[in-house]
Amino acid sequence: MQLKSRHLLGLEGVAKSEIELILDTASGLKEILDRPIPKVPTLRGKTVVNLFFEPSTRTRFSFELAEKRLSADSMNFSAASSSVLKGESLRDTVQNIEAMRINFVVIRHSAVGAPHFLASCIDASVINAGDGAHEHPTQALLDMMTMKERTGRLKDLKVVIVGDIEHSRVARSNIHGLRTMGAQVGVCGPATMIPRNIEDMGITVYPHIEDAMAEADVLNLLRIQLERQGRELLPSLREYRNLFGVTLERLERIGRDLVIMHPGPLNRGVEIDSDVADSEFSVILNQVTNGVAVRMAVLYLLAGGKAKLEGESHG
Ligand code: CP
Repeated sequence: MQLKSRHLLGLEGVAKSEIELILDTASGLKEILDRPIPKVPTLRGKTVVNLFFEPSTRTRFSFELAEKRLSADSMNFSAASSSVLKGESLRDTVQNIEAMRINFVVIRHSAVGAPHFLASCIDASVINAGDGAHEHPTQALLDMMTMKERTGRLKDLKVVIVGDIEHSRVARSNIHGLRTMGAQVGVCGPATMIPRNIEDMGITVYPHIEDAMAEADVLNLLRIQLERQGRELLPSLREYRNLFGVTLERLERIGRDLVIMHPGPLNRGVEIDSDVADSEFSVILNQVTNGVAVRMAVLYLLAGGKAKLEGESHG
């Protein structure tokens, strides 16, 4: 089986079988990361351009590492040191880069739909690494891979996403992906940060973190985006922590296992306390490792790779 599209622009509308294909492929590729020489020739001869118009640590480095592990050639573009500063448009920038014969563009951009626009005007495969408050599909895929690894399932798994749901591309992609995979999705956060009528999508709204924690198998905590809406939609960070912060005291009160996730970067002492982030409940660093495997799988499958057969080796 192969992916239907040559782009990965979001998880909305992506079939369950395709998500399963990506997650299974990522699980198969993950062992490469632990080899003495963690490199296979799978994408030798392919060129990937990483276009990051917004800051990133995890996504950018894990795409770069995934490309290197698969032997692709990669180039990194930073808006701050490019002709974008001279007023060159996104379309011109990418068409000029494409003229150098490249195969993939990985793009993070503050404008919703920037990856979709690129996909309509270039021949290379486009991978969305986060567009505004719209989608961040590879983050949701690595989140689902981590949930499945830790709990053994996605179907009927109770996942509550906590924080600014309205403005979060991580939340949006998680909601699309998890619902497709049959998980039970809930959200929790200040009313100013919960989309209106979200219940109509079959999503449970928890106004109180204690109720969310009492019911969830997995809590996926979002970063309060201090540089974006955080200041306007919250009376104070202290109040957010008091009402929605995941503390060890709250976790111990639940008295059972609960998987704690966070896409990073963390605001320690706001949405998550340090002793939770660094505890046995946390799979935050497993998410980061799985990010490399998921991005390897996406590149491999978009390049036309097929599902790995039982016992087959990638190199
Ligand atoms: N999770 C995530 O997108 O992190 P970065 O912004 O560091 O890429």
